[in-house]
Amino acid sequence: MKIGIPKEIKNNENRVGMTPAGVFALKKHNHTVYVQSTAGEGSGFLDKDYEEVGAIILPTIEEVYASSEMIVKVKEPIVSEYDLIQEDQVIFTYFHFASSEELTKAMIRRKAICIAYETVEDEDGTLPLLTPMSEVAGRMAIQQGAKYLEKPIKGRGILLGGVPGVAPGKVLILGAGVVGVQAAKMAAGLGASVTIMDINMKRLRYLNDVLPNHVVTAFSNEYSIRQHIKTHDLIIGGVLVKGGKAPKLITRDMLKEMKPGTVIVDVAVDQGGCFETTRPTTHQDPTYIIDDVVHYCVANMPGAVPYTSTLALTNVTLNYVLKIANLGWREACNIDKTLEKGLNIVKGEIVYEELLHAFEA
Ligand SMILES: NC(=O)c1ccc[n+]([C@@H]2O[C@H](COP(=O)([O-])OP(=O)(O)OC[C@H]3O[C@@H](n4cnc5c(N)ncnc54)[C@H](O)[C@@H]3O)[C@@H](O)[C@H]2O)c1
Repeated sequence: MKIGIPKEIKNNENRVGMTPAGVFALKKHNHTVYVQSTAGEGSGFLDKDYEEVGAIILPTIEEVYASSEMIVKVKEPIVSEYDLIQEDQVIFTYFHFASSEELTKAMIRRKAICIAYETVEDEDGTLPLLTPMSEVAGRMAIQQGAKYLEKPIKGRGILLGGVPGVAPGKVLILGAGVVGVQAAKMAAGLGASVTIMDINMKRLRYLNDVLPNHVVTAFSNEYSIRQHIKTHDLIIGGVLVKGGKAPKLITRDMLKEMKPGTVIVDVAVDQGGCFETTRPTTHQDPTYIIDDVVHYCVANMPGAVPYTSTLALTNVTLNYVLKIANLGWREACNIDKTLEKGLNIVKGEIVYEELLHAFEA
């Protein structure tokens, strides 16, 4: 199969859909891989790295789309890419269709085969192509939170790990899923004192067994959250209600209960946020302050660490890319029900149940 890797053109997107390791694997199966010139630069991969493993470098995005039967990307196509997409071309990327009727209509019009990373779903309901980005965001939440706790950027002026003779900072994590656990591990690694909350007791029991002793589990309810926020320095929001908006676990009035300079990081901002005062921010201007509480609410946290994020993402996408390339999309989806869940729009028809109703009034 002919596979194309265009350069991401969405604002501030430095990830790339395939690394040289992916090209290497595809070449072993005798596929042809076209990579747009400089596509990998933002993630640390040069054109010559791709050429060395057999990719053909093309100068323009138009040539990549025109030459390829399958396009492997990171972000959803933006308006200038719509008309480059051809009938029957497989587009394998994050789409997040439900958040854009315009994109959905454009892909229907183009009659492409749209396989969305975010809906590829294992039998147990986990989302294998979303997990790595949650892992990145969870770990980053502590790195960013620790930085914004510094006084010059209006934080409390606390070193999370403390020093001999001075107690460490206290971290509260709401949600003990992928984001929450990665955040807990990072915070514990820094020596902070950590509390992680969830409503899933089975999950809390398991984490109580496997996390270090200075990570305490707590059942999440409003009373308990109100108590904990008074004493914690860094609060991470990592809750998710599948298919729904994040619940507002920290309301505006609760900010007054926190110590001035407390930092709150709402990782769930991409699902509307779990703090009432959350509004999406960017890496250019990541924080704002309300009632002396520093809010960090970047909707695309992994974008700041494209090298790590590209590797983490392509580690999990490559097997599917190989399967589609070797068997064709139809046969690949027939034999792999996890991948089949990724099919959203096929030759002008919406085939993903939830998307059928996404834009009903
Ligand atoms: N900002 C970013 O860049 C970025 C990147 C990756 C993921 N995310 C977002 O982070 C959020 C978490 O993702 P995840 O992969 O960890 O999800 P997950 O499904 O693995 O975990 C969510 C957890 O929240 C818990 N939960 C639900 N309601 C709760 C409540 N009332 N109190 C406490 N816990 C509750 C669930 O039981 C679950 O354990 C999602 O909204 C995801 O989209 C954001």
